[in-house]
Amino acid sequence: MIRRHCSLVLPPSPVAWPFVPEFQTSPGMRDILPPESGRWRRFVAVFAELVEAAGYGQVIPPLLEDLGVFRRLGDATEIVTKEMYDFVDKGNRHVALRPEQTASVCRAFVQHRPLTPWKVWYAGPNFRYEKPQRGRYRQFEQVGVEVLGVDDPYLDVEVIALGWRFFEALGLRQVRLVLNSLGEPEDRARYVDALRRHFTEHLDALSPESRQTLDKNPLRVLDSKRHEDRAVIEAAPSIADYYSDDASSHFQVVQDGLRALGVPFEVEPRLVRGLDYYRRTTFEYQGATLDSAQNALGGGGRYDGLVEDLGGPPTAGIGFALGVDRTLLACDDEGVFAPPPGSVDVFVVDTTGGREALVLTEQLRAAGLRADRAYDQRSMKSQMKVADRSGASLALIVGTDELVAGTVVLRPLRGETREQTPVPRSEVIDVVKKALS
Ligand code: HAM
Repeated sequence: MIRRHCSLVLPPSPVAWPFVPEFQTSPGMRDILPPESGRWRRFVAVFAELVEAAGYGQVIPPLLEDLGVFRRLGDATEIVTKEMYDFVDKGNRHVALRPEQTASVCRAFVQHRPLTPWKVWYAGPNFRYEKPQRGRYRQFEQVGVEVLGVDDPYLDVEVIALGWRFFEALGLRQVRLVLNSLGEPEDRARYVDALRRHFTEHLDALSPESRQTLDKNPLRVLDSKRHEDRAVIEAAPSIADYYSDDASSHFQVVQDGLRALGVPFEVEPRLVRGLDYYRRTTFEYQGATLDSAQNALGGGGRYDGLVEDLGGPPTAGIGFALGVDRTLLACDDEGVFAPPPGSVDVFVVDTTGGREALVLTEQLRAAGLRADRAYDQRSMKSQMKVADRSGASLALIVGTDELVAGTVVLRPLRGETREQTPVPRSEVIDVVKKALS
């Protein structure tokens, strides 16, 4: 008889937890527990499969970069000015946790000089010191793609359509694709001047927050969701009146391409995005079920000057990032892309001390089956409870009689019949495989 090797006996769960935790996650940071974590993994796997089939390879940049990398995102970008997790490290370097990954990808491009077109995808956490609320966190996850070195408007179409197809693959139906062009840098500059004039003329009607934003970046005033700003924003000039011929034809080709692929979109000339690096095409995927302040499931656009800003050659760039946290909230709202069901197929119950469970479970796993077992030499009843909770469809039971007879009892845990069948120990793997097929 094997003795218990540990004196700690955990009470059967669920239990009333009598402790007040001394530590909890920081505001805006979350633990993702099973089975939800299985859904996160599957989310990334579905994305990876889709984009790798389109020629994108994975890039894994570090979480931490020189602060300068993100400063290039622009002085008028709140993500940079207000929300950065930056600090001086032990080597006296001013570094920051990445608030997004486009700048890191461009830094990597300049550093490693890969051949173009460079088509990459990524997945991972980002950090922004924002006011936490549903759909807005300080650590959040993104998946995304970036393509460097291609100016072709049909690439814009490919990139935008990839994001759209991903939402389709998740089963989401209530997503809007909103599209805009910010024109060439000169068009954008003329438009920003016109906006500044317009908002300055109506300064009294603007909210104090928008007056402040106007000083730094008139484009961002268009983003205000404040009620008092609405009338002035509606009367503001439209970017569409400032396009050069090149910008206009690029935008027309993008729209035509999306129509050719049957991807529905709405042109929204007031769509500006939170980052300053965008030129020409910009877009956002908006979830209809989420609060308007957090309804962007993802977004992206062209950033043809960013590589140069990071010390590289003039290089065209386009990409998008999708928020995993928010997109999964939208999936919950629409009742699609549920967490995967129970994790194992077969559960071993052993009332003879646990050695048989140890060996049998290992054999089942080696045969490619998903198997788990009970521990701590609990009673048959308590082990069967754990077996039921495990989500397995079969239990294999070993008691003293079976050990002596060289058998194992097979018992279905789901369905109508719970009839127990003794199986010779040497045949158990084959019998289980057959029962599960
Ligand atoms: P972004 O619009 O800042 O763009 O973020 C993309 C998505 O990340 C958002 O639409 C949202 O779903 C999610 N997200 C952003 N902040 C939070 C937050 N605090 N909590 C939860 N989710 C959040 C970018 O990051 C660009 N790098 C996209 C891009 C790639 N543009 C070109 N290439």
